[in-house]
Amino acid sequence: MLKPPISRMGGKSKLRKTIIEMIPDHICYVELFFGAGWVYFGKQLSKVEVINDIDKELINLFRMIKYHAAEIERQLEYDFSGRDIFEEYKNISVDYLTEINRAVRFLYLISQSFAGKGGTYGYGTTSRPKPQIFYKDVLNDLKERLRNTYVENLSFEKVIEKYDRKHTFFFVDPPYLETAGYENKFGEKEHLILLEKLKNLKGEFLLTINDNPKVREWYKDFKIKEVEVNYSVSRDQKARGKYKELIITNY
Ligand SMILES: C[S@@+](CC[C@H](N)C(=O)[O-])C[C@H]1O[C@@H](n2cnc3c(N)ncnc32)[C@H](O)[C@@H]1O
Repeated sequence: MLKPPISRMGGKSKLRKTIIEMIPDHICYVELFFGAGWVYFGKQLSKVEVINDIDKELINLFRMIKYHAAEIERQLEYDFSGRDIFEEYKNISVDYLTEINRAVRFLYLISQSFAGKGGTYGYGTTSRPKPQIFYKDVLNDLKERLRNTYVENLSFEKVIEKYDRKHTFFFVDPPYLETAGYENKFGEKEHLILLEKLKNLKGEFLLTINDNPKVREWYKDFKIKEVEVNYSVSRDQKARGKYKELIITNY
């Protein structure tokens, strides 16, 4: 199983085995909310694969890994972790950077920030700085993996419209309901649009989402499986613990 090159809030590192075991037969595999892509990088190859995320910098990173993995690796290999470099990368306008430089900047900010959110410089007294890339040559494997994949940078509803067929399987991992976090807002309105789209789907879907009474009500006509997940994205020991998550399917 491959490991993604970045961490992402809500990443499915702990749930991916369970999710992968539940994927039904399909021809076309679509991830509507790619993030770090834990499930995609962990599962067997499908005949056709599509990954999508609305975040421009995130999608640019995967495009650049596909075409310029060696150069990204070269630029980051000996880069060190420094607060002023971090601030410089954070404040620079991406309009003046090449696509490769944008990918390097994104990897740097994600890897050197607290909880991988890209906002605050991450440091500690009991852990070393994180490597900018997980391990050498990792990008090469990822590049191979991305070879036969369509990469989209759209809002989810447009991707559903384009790829929905009887033989399509959608892995759906949207931002959690009533939990802030990503640059692109995803509130109740967006969740209800998603619900309508999933209700009318020709293909099959597996949705993962936080356990919330509203979600249970909205999806009551589908199969709902409850799972417990350990979270550790907090400096505060007390805030760590188990949370319930729902896996909802239409098959
Ligand atoms: C929970 S994360 C996905 C995590 C991913 N499954 C993983 O394992 O890392 C949700 C993702 O949805 C993206 N997103 C937010 N709004 C979106 C929209 N309207 N359409 C597509 N993607 C969106 C965010 O940029 C974020 O990367």
